[in-house]
Amino acid sequence: MVVKTKVIKLNPLDIDQEVINQAATIIKKGGLVAFPTETVYGLGADALNPKAVEKIFEVKKRPHYDPLIVHIPTPECLSEMAREVNKVILDLTAAFWPGPLTLVVKKAQHIPDVVTANLDTVAIRMPAHPVALALLKTAATPIAAPSANLFGRASPVSAEHVLQDLQDKIELILDAGKTDVGVESTILDVTQRPFRILRPGGITIEALRAVVADIVSYQGNQVLSPGMFKRHYSPKARLVLAYGRGLSEVESVKHLASEFAKQGYLVGIMAKEENRHCYNGSFNVKVFGSEKDLSSCAVNLYSILREFDKENTQIIIAETVKEEGLGVAIMDRLRRAAARTSE
Ligand code: TXA
Ligand code: MG
Repeated sequence: MVVKTKVIKLNPLDIDQEVINQAATIIKKGGLVAFPTETVYGLGADALNPKAVEKIFEVKKRPHYDPLIVHIPTPECLSEMAREVNKVILDLTAAFWPGPLTLVVKKAQHIPDVVTANLDTVAIRMPAHPVALALLKTAATPIAAPSANLFGRASPVSAEHVLQDLQDKIELILDAGKTDVGVESTILDVTQRPFRILRPGGITIEALRAVVADIVSYQGNQVLSPGMFKRHYSPKARLVLAYGRGLSEVESVKHLASEFAKQGYLVGIMAKEENRHCYNGSFNVKVFGSEKDLSSCAVNLYSILREFDKENTQIIIAETVKEEGLGVAIMDRLRRAAARTSE
């Protein structure tokens, strides 16, 4: 289907309800709207309309065995989506919703199978972005929304990124500027004890454990969630990760960058603030954030991968961060973005 994609700017602190009404009408009629959440932009459809949800898979070129997250406007809506909601689950929603935590629960009968890839569970989240919440409230239906990128690519953190992937394939993009978190929500399976992290994300395991003690950490080598592909979030360029700390990390980046440059490739370096000065102008360096503030690294991660692509960079050499706190999610995304095969 060919349409002309409309992009409408919204001020999240003073939302134009007319625009939200337009977006909600598209959703209710079975169309698709891209909208900001606090993590990344989502591609939304009425979760209770299987034909509308089908369009998400078509437009993203996403395989049907990869289930979607259903977004809801209030914590109370969870009980309409899940067969059982116990005290511990309520403790988690009280602590983290609205926010970047997705809960996998036993699904209620009326949720279409296309949303959940025929699983008996469904992933639910209440986003924190005011535009997402306004849309959910006005549409008055749960909204199924994956990240608004083509399947396998880096998630969009701005309306421009959504356009790069989905221009003229969807009717409307609500543009509220860059998202705050930059990596996707943490996915937690609460269908059995101990609870298990299926995807690390915006909420750290330390934060979760402060509310529920027995949570199993994310096991990167196990596929517990059907959508966790080894290769994902990838730029068009080849991404190579440089390990090591301090000077040895910088040496390894310089060595890799020089080797690839010698072979004639257009090379870019993604570095931490702390190491910026070590590369003094000899390479195309983009700084993704400071080691002391991992949230800054998360915010810029996907944008920088897309910026390098825009410049037709062929090889990106990336520094890494410590796998602590938000660093677990950042390293998960970097490894998948760098993976060369999907199996
Ligand atoms: O931050 C986010 O979570 C963003 C924003 C838009 O909300 N959404 C997002 O959706 O990242 P998506 O489709 O890119 O990733 C959702 C992942 C799927 O790939 C799948 O691995 C997992 O959620 N998932 C969904 N339903 C599941 C289920 N019933 N059991 C296990 N994993 C599930
Ligand atoms: Mg995605």
